[in-house]
Order: sequence, then structure tokens, then C-alpha cells
Amino acid sequence: MYSALLPIHNILRWAFLALAIWVLVKSVIGLMGNKTFTPGDKKLGGILLGFAHLQLLIGIILWFISPNVQAALANMGGAMKDSIQRMQLLEHPLTMILAIVLIQIGRIKTKKAYADSDKHRRTVVYLGIGLVLILSRIPWTTTPLFPF
Ligand code: HEM
Repeated sequence: MYSALLPIHNILRWAFLALAIWVLVKSVIGLMGNKTFTPGDKKLGGILLGFAHLQLLIGIILWFISPNVQAALANMGGAMKDSIQRMQLLEHPLTMILAIVLIQIGRIKTKKAYADSDKHRRTVVYLGIGLVLILSRIPWTTTPLFPF
């Protein structure tokens, strides 16, 4: 299962990032240009959240079955001193969970906002922070950019 889920988690990163940047740029333009927050914007935000939840689900399963995480768990002291193991065991999962929680809160706050400018602003703030967190803890240099 690990060898099937890891490449899916890897490739889904690109779908998530592309969509997140698209939603963010649309809301920055919407905020600056005082544009309407359309049903299409709302739908895109929902699809983005769906991708985030899918990554969360796959990531949690991976955490329990990854041989790398299990090796780190078996030697916590050593893992904390090793930047790659620390990333796999704690930094990547915890930062991603925090980012996805922020994106989820942003979605709820965006839905509750009345003015279109507030909807765009809340999207920009919550998604912006979430995206920065995600970009900061993707293992860019230690894992393949594409699974094939
Ligand atoms: C948007 C959210 C996320 C993105 C973009 C992302 C991205 C990635 C990428 C690119 C990899 C490397 C894949 C490879 O080696 O081919 C990875 C690995 C991994 N991720 Fe995530 N991830 C996300 C969320 C999560 C979450 C929420 C968890 C756990 C709660 C998680 C747990 C893991 C684990 C355990 C690994 C495999 C470590 C290993 O065995 O080498 N990820 N992730």
C-alpha cells in the first residue's frame, strides 16, 4: 500500500499547489479590483479544500505505514538529530495539518463574510498563510519532484 500511496501523495501535491495558487491569485485580483466573489470562486475553494482533505487522509495513512516514519519512531533520539527523519516524522505532518486547518477556517470565514471584498480578503489571508506553510515543509530536495 505504501508504494501505491506515496506516488499518489507526491503527484497530488502539484494539483493542490496549482489550484491553491490559482485561487489565491484570483482572490488577490478580486480584492484589488473590487470584483464580485462569484459562485465559481466558491466552487473552486471547495475543490481546493477537497484536495487538501485528500492529501491529509493519504498523509495520515502514510505516516502509519511509512518505513521511514517507523524507523524514526524506533529511534526518536536519533531521528530528532537527523533533519530528514525529523521532517518525515514531525515537521512535514504537523505543519501540513496546521496549514490545512487554516485553509479550512478560511473557507468557513469566507462563507460567513457578507461583503465580497471581505470574502476575497479572508481567502487571501488564510490561504496565503496556509500556502506559505505548505511550501516551506514540502520535502523538495530529498524526494522526487515526480513519482515516475
Ligand atoms: C497539502 C498537503 C501535503 C502536501 C503538498 C504533501 C506533500 C508531500 C510530498 C511531496 C511527499 C514526498 C513524496 C515522495 O517521497 O515521493 C510527502 C511525503 C509524506 N507525507 Fe505529505 N504532503 C501533505 C500533507 C501531509 C499530511 C497532512 C501528512 C500526515 C499527517 C503527510 C505525511 C507524509 C508522509 C508520512 C510522507 C512519506 C514519508 C516517507 O515515507 O518518506 N503529508 N508529502
